Amino acid sequence: MRLGRNDPCWCNSGKKYKQCHAAMDEKIAQYKAKGAKVPSHKIIKTPAQIEGIRKAGVLNTEILNMVEEKICAGMSTDDINTLVHEFTVSHGGTPAPLGYCGFPKSVCTSINNVVCHGIPSPDEFLKEGDIVNVDVTTILDGYYADASRMFCIGEVSPEAKKLVQVTKESVDLALKEVKPWGFLGDIGYVISQYIYANGYTVLRDIGGHGVGNDFHEDPYVCHIGERGKGMLLVPGMVFTIEPMVNAGKEPFFEDEANGWTIYTKDGSLSAQWEYTVLVTEDGAEVITH
Ligand code: MF3
Ligand code: CO
Ligand code: CO
Repeated sequence: MRLGRNDPCWCNSGKKYKQCHAAMDEKIAQYKAKGAKVPSHKIIKTPAQIEGIRKAGVLNTEILNMVEEKICAGMSTDDINTLVHEFTVSHGGTPAPLGYCGFPKSVCTSINNVVCHGIPSPDEFLKEGDIVNVDVTTILDGYYADASRMFCIGEVSPEAKKLVQVTKESVDLALKEVKPWGFLGDIGYVISQYIYANGYTVLRDIGGHGVGNDFHEDPYVCHIGERGKGMLLVPGMVFTIEPMVNAGKEPFFEDEANGWTIYTKDGSLSAQWEYTVLVTEDGAEVITH
């Protein structure tokens, strides 16, 4: 049944449809008629959900800040897991990775040639010169926020430093593309162009995702794309941008041993940076700053 203009809006704002999402839905329908891939209502967060996701984002950022303060050479990746787990739980949150599809720990820690999904271990120690990604996903009051940062342990090589920096810059460039009536392809376009211009490669088959009501939701956010292609961006969409960038020319393979950890095929370094972002009325809000 079609929603009447005087009916309450589908987003539960309490406003009439005509004073809330009616105009936006109309515009989306026009894009759809022209052949664009458009988001369903399920993908568009309600004001209440956005509030909840923001709070999860605040805690997620506090966790990453805490890791940033404590991370150092000599620490095991299991020590990072303990820090993240205890901080999360003591602040009323739940670490989303723990038990997710059987993942055994509360955080992913991916060192040097590990592309992503490294499993913390008491036998794996951080050493001077390492680059490590710590990927934290927090559930708070049922809402999810997901972000990761790279950390350089002591002095790292100029090559490692540049890879980490270029990866971060690619996400910052992509943020400028996050605005209503843009396209997911714009994000993939600017990221891949920037990464290739620096002589690196970026994974096509592991990427960002809708997030907020669940850990991984639609849409898939590919970091390789074409301008004007892919799903239309509209206010209320929440998704991650999280390119995995390899210094070498090869993509990845899955570790047979644990079924999770992905390594670069040629042993080259890999870096990743991840934000959760919200499409606002006039641009982007980083949920995980
Ligand atoms: N945090 C990762 C992401 O950015 C997903 C990790 S899944 C896990 O999507 F099970 F390994 F935690
Ligand atoms: Co993610
Ligand atoms: Co993540």
